[in-house]
Amino acid sequence: MAKTAQGRASGKIILMGEHSVVYGKPAIALPFEAVEVLTTVTEGEGDLTVNCAFYDGLVHEMPKVYESLKHAIRFSLYRLGVSQNPAIKIEITSTIPAERGMGSSAAVAVSVARALFASYEKELTESELWDIAQSSEKIAHGNPSGVDVTTISREQSVYFVKGQPIEILDVDLPGYLVVADTGHIGHTLEAVQHVADWIDIENQGGADLYFSPQGHIEILGELVAASKEALLDRDINRLGKLMNRAQGYLYDLGVSDASLEHLVQTAREAGALGAKLTGGGRGGCMIALASSADQAHSIAQALEQEGASQTWIQSLAKV
Ligand code: PMV
Repeated sequence: MAKTAQGRASGKIILMGEHSVVYGKPAIALPFEAVEVLTTVTEGEGDLTVNCAFYDGLVHEMPKVYESLKHAIRFSLYRLGVSQNPAIKIEITSTIPAERGMGSSAAVAVSVARALFASYEKELTESELWDIAQSSEKIAHGNPSGVDVTTISREQSVYFVKGQPIEILDVDLPGYLVVADTGHIGHTLEAVQHVADWIDIENQGGADLYFSPQGHIEILGELVAASKEALLDRDINRLGKLMNRAQGYLYDLGVSDASLEHLVQTAREAGALGAKLTGGGRGGCMIALASSADQAHSIAQALEQEGASQTWIQSLAKV
């Protein structure tokens, strides 16, 4: 066993396709390198301990709210063939804001699995990493589509359809993505349930619905497919328009909120080619598309002036 080992994972941004991805439609997601989780495993004394921003103590005494992290640790050890609590210390540091639609929980699970496998000097296969992180996500989020774990574990942009082979996307656009945190915790589970409830109502006869939730899911899927074409054609203007259209359908589905709408509007007024929420919504983060670094900076500045708690800028050009 190595005396010290580390595992890292970046965040992720869903460019297009949140929520509709739950219903078998495609999603486009990118690794978000500006934020990351770093897990360090060191040989300790006594029992298995974990130290992170929310908890410092024995793994077996972790409160229920950290069950997904506990599961990632236990499942990794199980896959490593370690049956008894090893005397190791697991330290987790993260710059990914939790519950903001940036894939924090998936990134924690991926970095923990990577660090533990590195500390036992064992190879971690893609399928093992998927099993560990996705089962941990199930505890955190109920029935996740898998787009977070796929993007974060592959460290590549993906065109993701639940249950289908992963398509890696070669993103190389002359533009920038501005990401802004509303500063409010997102409510992915609630938002996913809200969409499911509306689909149920529609299936039972529709009552007084003024739109078709399933129709919206279909259109969102089509917008994602069109976005893939725009990405491949390197047509940033078209992509921006598609993002704007997606936001309207997501709003109708009830997964946006006032803070997201305000920042989306602010970004558009500041010159963004397109702007929408990203991730589960109802709080969390939004994204805006900019055609130059200067424009990205002025959009970020406008977003911060209008209440964004934090902003980031990521180039969409291939490095
Ligand atoms: O909020 P996040 O980062 O967990 O993203 C959720 C994305 C959804 O499409 C709303 C749910 C899912 O399982 O894909």
